[in-house]
Amino acid sequence: MSAKTFLLQNSETGDQIELDVRSGTVGPDVLDIRSLNASTGTFTYDSGFAATASCESKITYIDGGKGLLMYRGYPVEQLAEKSSFIEVCYLLLHGELPSTDELAKFDQTVRTHTMLNETMLRLFDGFHHDAHPMAMVAGVVGSMSAFYHDTTDIYDPRHRDIFAHRILAKMPTIAAAAYKHTVSQPFAYPRNDLSYAKNLLHMFFGVPTEEYEVDKVAAEALDLLFILHADHEQNCSTSTVRMAGSSGANPYSAIAAGIAALWGPAHGGANEAVLNMLEQIGSVDQIDKFVDKAKDKNDPFRLMGFGHRVYKNHDPRATIIRGACHKVLKQLGRTDSPLFELALRLEEIALKDDYFIEKKLYPNVDFYSGIIYRALGIPTSMFTVMFAIARTVGWVSHWREMIVDPDGRISRPRQLYTGPVARDYVGIDKR
Ligand code: ACO
Repeated sequence: MSAKTFLLQNSETGDQIELDVRSGTVGPDVLDIRSLNASTGTFTYDSGFAATASCESKITYIDGGKGLLMYRGYPVEQLAEKSSFIEVCYLLLHGELPSTDELAKFDQTVRTHTMLNETMLRLFDGFHHDAHPMAMVAGVVGSMSAFYHDTTDIYDPRHRDIFAHRILAKMPTIAAAAYKHTVSQPFAYPRNDLSYAKNLLHMFFGVPTEEYEVDKVAAEALDLLFILHADHEQNCSTSTVRMAGSSGANPYSAIAAGIAALWGPAHGGANEAVLNMLEQIGSVDQIDKFVDKAKDKNDPFRLMGFGHRVYKNHDPRATIIRGACHKVLKQLGRTDSPLFELALRLEEIALKDDYFIEKKLYPNVDFYSGIIYRALGIPTSMFTVMFAIARTVGWVSHWREMIVDPDGRISRPRQLYTGPVARDYVGIDKR
């Protein structure tokens, strides 16, 4: 029995029920409503799950009011400054920062599982040349369960480990194969002597005709973006992975479902949409017109890269990426980036506008990330794929947590039915 309780009273009958209140280590309490339906016959209604904690988790914490994001208790600013993506992967998966030996072993395991089954590589030939890379990546990741039967027993911890290493290691290779397909270039095999980010750049931009030297600044920028995108508690794609996985589906299918959910412009697809929007705005003198469009209730246009379900103060990832934009563009010698200038001016104008102030709409992680990707030579259609590569570790960490959760059950929400009441079938001749 929990120490704190919450009393709920039916205004018609006066009946009361007591609900347990559960407290986490930090953050708001939650009402445990699991007995609600059995004792009152009612459900709760929370479209979009804005007030619903769908699970208990120890992985990531966000305080949207303070603009705070922590992975396993470590503030993301500290990880961005001091850690590496591969170390953050270990942290998210295992709960603690690794020792030197643990990190070296983990890094080596991921580096040596980067190759794809050659048959899987041939799947890309089945896609049209202008297929969106997210469509290819979702399809090929889904197909992994057909290649790696030896890691689909979700109740075997060893299978779960192999799956985690495999999917982390192969995501950049799958992404690069999708990219090479879109530009009709030969696939570049992974190089296990390179770090995660360097290997990815090598597979993207390497060609067989000449030596490709990976740019250190580009690799560092990518590593930083990957750290910032690695996890974000129960967001749309992560909840999708948990939900798909809760049925006992194999983990590759659950990740493919997450990739599909990430693609939408309200979620990870926003980074591609931001770049398209900035190009559509075109110049500073057009900003007011587009801000007015975003405020117009009758216009579906929204400022992409603005607003967040949880952050109502600032998105700490956006602040870090804005700073990184300045640094990376300078280091790459791109001091005149009209798109970055436009984005900075748009942010400035929107943040002074009453509409955005009242609704607490701030730039989110995707507002500036595309500007760095663009500077690294990554095409706009690949932006959400980059997000998917980084978020894979978050999805895997949550899937693993879900599988061993003693409270875990198949995810199966209910509804408020407002359709027709029972009626008799009418033959087609009488309609
Ligand atoms: N531009 C203009 N108005 C906006 C915007 C925006 N970008 N975002 C929210 N609003 C308005 C809504 O119209 C709504 O107004 P109302 O109260 O008058 O109806 C109010 O602000 C609240 O918005 P909701 O859509 O109810 O907020 P929700 O939490 O459901 O959605 C979301 C959050 C999807 C991120 C939303 O802000 C949005 O669409 N932003 C643009 C897309 C984007 O950048 N997505 C990336 C999010 S980060 C990530 O997933 C990686």
